[in-house]
Amino acid sequence: MQIIQTISELRKTLKNQTSIAFLPTMGNLHAGHIHLVEIAKQHAKCVVVSIFVNPLQFGPNEDLANYPRTLEADCAKLSGLADIVFAPSVTEMYPEVQTMTISPPPIANELCGATRLGHFSGVVTVVMKLFNMVRPDIAIFGKKDFQQLFMIKELVKQFNLPIEIIAGETVREVDGLAMSSRNGYLSTDERLVAIQLNMALRGIVVATKNGNKNFVELEQQAIQQLSQHNWLVDYISIRSSANLKPALATDKNLVVLGAAKIGKTRLIDNIEFCIDA
Ligand code: PAJ
Repeated sequence: MQIIQTISELRKTLKNQTSIAFLPTMGNLHAGHIHLVEIAKQHAKCVVVSIFVNPLQFGPNEDLANYPRTLEADCAKLSGLADIVFAPSVTEMYPEVQTMTISPPPIANELCGATRLGHFSGVVTVVMKLFNMVRPDIAIFGKKDFQQLFMIKELVKQFNLPIEIIAGETVREVDGLAMSSRNGYLSTDERLVAIQLNMALRGIVVATKNGNKNFVELEQQAIQQLSQHNWLVDYISIRSSANLKPALATDKNLVVLGAAKIGKTRLIDNIEFCIDA
């Protein structure tokens, strides 16, 4: 496995590769990321993993400075799985201020984007830059970040990028908590109750599958339930999984998404499900 820090070396190394699968990450790798590397390995001869904490997708009051940076441990986890780790510095990625950015569709201002202003523009802009550096045939993204996955699919579609996007299932802890680099911020007590977000989403799935289509009421009930357990809820929303628009009673393929803070840690989760319309 090669560890590469510059764009020129990356381009030189990948020049004659005919089959590249790419997994962009911000590092602090866990079993969720590793699951995606394994998917990548099944699809191409050369697996490239990028590790870059992208300042452009963090808001001014977010955790950019504290985001866990664990390059050495990450490389140890990837050895034998990835062919290339691309770990550029901030100045390598942004030698000057990135004044040209991609403006995502309006859905970027809903759900996570409603409170994380500019977040998805930062995500799609860095992913576009990384795609241009790696030029992969295939790229893997996790369903854990369902709205992000949706944005990336739109990016590829609307800019006609010759890249196949593959979605990986969310990997969870034994109790069902979605794995996340931010889970490391949780105190022991917070970790014990962190599963409540997933439980609230599961409750909505069960109620909806049992025929309750009063989506707004279900969302409100879940928000109330979590608030009673000291969560600061950002949103709980039932959407069409095809276009991320608020669910209609006639929709069959749904996703319930949630974001909420327990203490200082913001967690997100979602569950895709089908109902008989
Ligand atoms: P990061 O949070 O490191 O996630 C990298 C990839 O791993 C994303 O596609 C994410 O959806 C996926 N992932 C995270 N947790 C997962 C889990 N529990 N199960 C399965 N997949 C999981 O997402 C980003 O980085 C950044 O926004 C990035 C796309 C790299 C752009 O900077």
